[in-house]
Amino acid sequence: MKQTYVKDLYTGGEVTDWFLVKRSEIKTGANGKQYYDVLLGDKTGDISGKKWDVEGAETDLLSGIRAGDLVKVKAQITEWNGQPQLRIGRIRTRKEEDALEMAEFIKAAPEPPEAMFAYLHGKAEGIGDAELREVCLYLLNNNKDRLLYYPAAKANHHAIYAGLLWHVKRMLMMAERCCEVYTFLNKDLLTAGVLVHDIEKLNEMQADETGVVSEYTVEGQMLGHLVMGVRTIDRLVDEIGLSREKAMLLEHMMISHHYEPEFGSPKKPAFPEAEALHYMDMLDAKMYDFEDSLAGVAPGSFSDWVRTLDGRRLYKSTL
Ligand SMILES: [Fe+2]
Ligand SMILES: [Fe+2]
Repeated sequence: MKQTYVKDLYTGGEVTDWFLVKRSEIKTGANGKQYYDVLLGDKTGDISGKKWDVEGAETDLLSGIRAGDLVKVKAQITEWNGQPQLRIGRIRTRKEEDALEMAEFIKAAPEPPEAMFAYLHGKAEGIGDAELREVCLYLLNNNKDRLLYYPAAKANHHAIYAGLLWHVKRMLMMAERCCEVYTFLNKDLLTAGVLVHDIEKLNEMQADETGVVSEYTVEGQMLGHLVMGVRTIDRLVDEIGLSREKAMLLEHMMISHHYEPEFGSPKKPAFPEAEALHYMDMLDAKMYDFEDSLAGVAPGSFSDWVRTLDGRRLYKSTL
């Protein structure tokens, strides 16, 4: 059973407990000796670990450890670059008799995946335009298995179990309100754009069933989910008889949703639903980072600097 969590580890202490392997590698140090470099985590956060001077049979053992494995670690908690780091003494993988609950290790979206999927599905069914509705239902139904656990990112916002569903659900909630305020927006188009904008993240990243991304796929690195999304929509023109005009609108929303060329968008939004999609996407990512970064901060004090928010330190108000 797991007893200590990453967020409670303090420099100078010791820990013997179970962690989920997020990344695992044997490296060679400047002194020519091999060491083991591992990123460990549980539902409260991640911590990096090192095992120095590994050789012989131990190297084989350690190189057999994969992302997604559960390992028991005995380590001293040291500090490196202002962050706690584990200096690993002993490490072993899980045996059959080790009773462990996966939920202890995975940071997950706060709602059950099936319920979030049902919410997305309901919104897709509510789209009045028959073609847009069909595109959305097609993509949801054909990708349901992976949607139930996929994160929305490898490291940044929503890099959690079922994070992609959580991201899209909250954007759909925003789209609903957004259309009440800006009544000239086409709600069907905005809803469809939200539902499909990140669908190719499923093929851009390789994630296991714990929602942990091990790597970007080759296509993901070469094309990215914006261009891959265009290709998917294009295919549906023939497959389900989507009109060229509507395909183009969805494709434009996909390629412009990152807004800037340096973030992968070759075009900026050319119609209001695409502009709204971008800002809702952005707002959801930012709000996630704020909430996440302030979660463990005491009222009246600042967080550590947050890389994804331009290195800002965030303030937790006492209100
Ligand atoms: Fe995206
Ligand atoms: Fe997104």
